[in-house]
Amino acid sequence: MTSLRPGGSFGDYKVVRLLGKGSTGSVWLLEIPGRDRRCAAKILSRDLARDHAHRSMFMREAVSAMEIRHPNLVRVYDVGEDPETELCYILMEYASGGTLADKLKKEKRLPVQQAASVVRSIASLLDELSSRGMVHRDIKPGNILFADGGVAKLSDLGIVRSNGQSGAFCRSDARMMGTPAYMAPEQMLDSEAVDIRADIYSLGVVFFEMLAGRRPFSGSDMIRLVARSVAGEVPDIRDFRPDVSESIANIVRMMCAPNAEERVRSPHSLVSLIDWALKEVE
Ligand SMILES: Nc1ncnc2c1ncn2[C@@H]1O[C@H](COP(=O)(O)OP(=O)(O)OP(=O)(O)O)[C@@H](O)[C@H]1O
Ligand SMILES: [Mg+2]
Repeated sequence: MTSLRPGGSFGDYKVVRLLGKGSTGSVWLLEIPGRDRRCAAKILSRDLARDHAHRSMFMREAVSAMEIRHPNLVRVYDVGEDPETELCYILMEYASGGTLADKLKKEKRLPVQQAASVVRSIASLLDELSSRGMVHRDIKPGNILFADGGVAKLSDLGIVRSNGQSGAFCRSDARMMGTPAYMAPEQMLDSEAVDIRADIYSLGVVFFEMLAGRRPFSGSDMIRLVARSVAGEVPDIRDFRPDVSESIANIVRMMCAPNAEERVRSPHSLVSLIDWALKEVE
């Protein structure tokens, strides 16, 4: 067998269907026949698997995630190379509710409480990452998934960097890490030198998008995107969504501050700010 196909097998698992494709390969739903056990398998594309740097980066994605158990992290069960197909794989928790990107495509904007609750969930995971000296560096709606019951979980710890272990969790090539539309200005300048505040910025852009139905900076012109995010021209969320409270609008603004020194300081304070803002509207 050269690849996966619905109805085929992969190790002890039966392949149910393709869940989606990303820049590194494809993600499949697997199950163990007769048992109520499902999981998702991310398979590295054969082209990328030929490249040693990509292969080891793919494996690191799983290893850094396997160390952490947190209710808002997509759990990674196993990583390896299938002896039969020689495919590199990551076995992870199946998130049946799909991605936030899919949800935004369908619903465009989310109720304020729901958007704030997604941000609170991911901030709580960032608190755990930051206590380990880690940074995610690719927070975007495509990497936020919903499990049964709607709990938001972050996936793809692939470009996580562990501070103080220079090179250990870094891409070895010179490509820019992250997704430009969600990237903090300092990450655009040097993606290796960032701390958890870069993740807080990206989560701020996601928060903005969930509330406004669009990102603060639209368009595909990279130079304009960089110039506007560095200049700090994040529009007021209430220009797009007048029903947002002043407290929530301030949180979005403080998350998207172009200067990291002026941003919400830590994921821990972000959680407290959101709890406080939500209490206000109860
Ligand atoms: N654990 C999971 N449970 C359910 N579906 C998943 C899971 N992981 C990924 N998917 C689906 O597979 C798709 C591809 O995921 P993948 O992580 O490969 O790429 P991406 O994050 O969307 O994009 P990129 O590779 O550019 O970062 C996702 O968009 C999602 O629909
Ligand atoms: Mg992903």
